[in-house]
Amino acid sequence: MPRARARTTTTVEPSEFARDLMAGLARTPRNVPPKYFYDAAGSALFDGICELPEYYPTRTELRILAERAPEIAAQIGPRAELVEFGAGSLTKVRLLFDAFKAEDAPRRYLPIDISGEHLEGAAERLRADYPELVVQPIVADYTMPLVLPATGAGVGQRVGFFPGSTIGNFHPEEALSFMQLAARLLRGGGMLVGVDLVKEPSRLHAAYNDAQGVTAAFNLNLLLRANRELGADFDLDAFGHYAFYNPLLQRIEMHLVSRRAQTVSIGGERFEFFEGESIHTENSHKFTVEGFRALAVRAGFRPGPVWTDEARLFSVHWLHAPAAQ
Ligand code: AVJ
Repeated sequence: MPRARARTTTTVEPSEFARDLMAGLARTPRNVPPKYFYDAAGSALFDGICELPEYYPTRTELRILAERAPEIAAQIGPRAELVEFGAGSLTKVRLLFDAFKAEDAPRRYLPIDISGEHLEGAAERLRADYPELVVQPIVADYTMPLVLPATGAGVGQRVGFFPGSTIGNFHPEEALSFMQLAARLLRGGGMLVGVDLVKEPSRLHAAYNDAQGVTAAFNLNLLLRANRELGADFDLDAFGHYAFYNPLLQRIEMHLVSRRAQTVSIGGERFEFFEGESIHTENSHKFTVEGFRALAVRAGFRPGPVWTDEARLFSVHWLHAPAAQ
């Protein structure tokens, strides 16, 4: 049911946000899905995060994609169809297109995203720069089963693209089921996944606790969005950004911690917070190269080459999706 809705609307409906927020705040411990960070303000703040000196993932992944583009293009093969999960602004995929000679370039590109507004604009800009490419945006929640249009005649293999370590937002069991879905969708083709690596906790800590406070603003924007869209009355000064690395679970956790005992109203409902109470807003799981390959195997992929930067901060994995037996 939520899937049918996601296909026909251009953005996440406020009512869905309201429902998920109130349900999340009613749980113990309280938690809210990270997908609600990305309204227009949140997306702009995330773009700001990607520019921060402390936030290494984006620039490291871009460097790997740019430097390894010929090898990656060789795996993608001629006249491919690219499917991007959670496509956003469609910038990273350009590095892949640019790695091909015109006759071998991907023929069709299917960016999947829950935000339709964002997606159409980005698709238009892409069409302008790649006139030969067929761009077919799909407004959907890619964690739900979905059916793709059949690949046309003369089109090469279907290739999934999931950059940015977005996979890290999933709980391990959700990551596995997403990868299983992807393996089915991409049967006979392959998948390129960007995965942030386990490393020195101090380095991870800095990436989510930047000196300029952009990550804090990104986290707090969730409450601002609730005030704007749902008429909630969160006092932004009464919650603090708290992010730390949990080495037992190999993940960064982001929380918003109540600075005092307080009551917040959302759509007529009241939520009592005690001093120090947290709203868990995001997990960002980190992987070892071997750990991610093992996950891919469990999902039905056959791992291929892995590319990392020299400091082994970030990894880009090629996974083969075997055809059905
Ligand atoms: C977009 C989910 C990959 O986990 O690093 C950045 C989001 N949160 N800073 C990440 C994020 C705080 C980012 N992902």
